[in-house]
Amino acid sequence: MSDVILSGRGLTKRFGGLVAVREVDIDVPRGEIFGLIGPNGAGKSTLFRLVAGIMAPSAGTVMFDGHPLTKKSPAAICVDGVVATHQIVRPFRTMSVLDNVTIGAFFGRRPQPKGREHARAIATEVLERCGIADRAQKPARELNLAGQKRLEIARALATDPKVILLDEVLAGLNPTETDRTLDLIRSIRAGGTTIVMVEHNLRAVRGLCSHLMVLVEGRKVAEGLPDAVLADPTVIAAYLGTSVHA
Ligand SMILES: Nc1ncnc2c1ncn2[C@@H]1O[C@H](COP(=O)(O)OP(=O)(O)OP(=O)(O)O)[C@@H](O)[C@H]1O
Ligand SMILES: [Mg+2]
Repeated sequence: MSDVILSGRGLTKRFGGLVAVREVDIDVPRGEIFGLIGPNGAGKSTLFRLVAGIMAPSAGTVMFDGHPLTKKSPAAICVDGVVATHQIVRPFRTMSVLDNVTIGAFFGRRPQPKGREHARAIATEVLERCGIADRAQKPARELNLAGQKRLEIARALATDPKVILLDEVLAGLNPTETDRTLDLIRSIRAGGTTIVMVEHNLRAVRGLCSHLMVLVEGRKVAEGLPDAVLADPTVIAAYLGTSVHA
């Protein structure tokens, strides 16, 4: 396989008696877009949190660029270059859009910006890239859903990540907003950042990802090239009732 930037071995997460993720191995190739799919409750967000270092596994290890992530704090991991967006967006609601992203720039990157103005300049550039510079001064709570999702991506990008994990950033977007976000994701990848995305929109996944992994009830049931994975009878059975060929 090509150069792997982020990998997990034997990842398991238990919540009391429930095993949300069960002995999953994952290898994310550097510089590519890796898709994680599966039905509701399959354990996607949990696996995502494990590989992002947000949540500690019950068993297993995560390696980022050859070093173990498992014992570091999320803040240290972010500075190292792995950052995640949340399925439920959670900006500082009363703060301006610009200030939200400035905080990401100030605390999340290495080298740290030289001061507040430098961090603001980085944040302004990121807002332009994300297409929300016109709303920079608004309180974050006044953004619509599409704006909030872009803000979530902008906060992550401001930390200058090597790997960005996107949890359902397309959910709830209309077709125009979806296309814009797809363009943004492509531009992030073109800039050299590796992307891991959890997504229910299979059409988007097929168009974007070079590699797919399918989770069902916490287990990996398929992985590989998108066309092959989406044609796999096990995967089709897991999605019965929804359209794999959407
Ligand atoms: N913090 C938690 N405490 C207890 N149970 C949890 C916790 N987080 C997730 N779970 C449970 O683990 C299972 C997997 O949840 P997870 O959120 O990872 O699924 P998902 O694939 O992301 O689903 P969705 O597509 O709905 O976002 C579910 O049964 C869920 O209820
Ligand atoms: Mg989820």
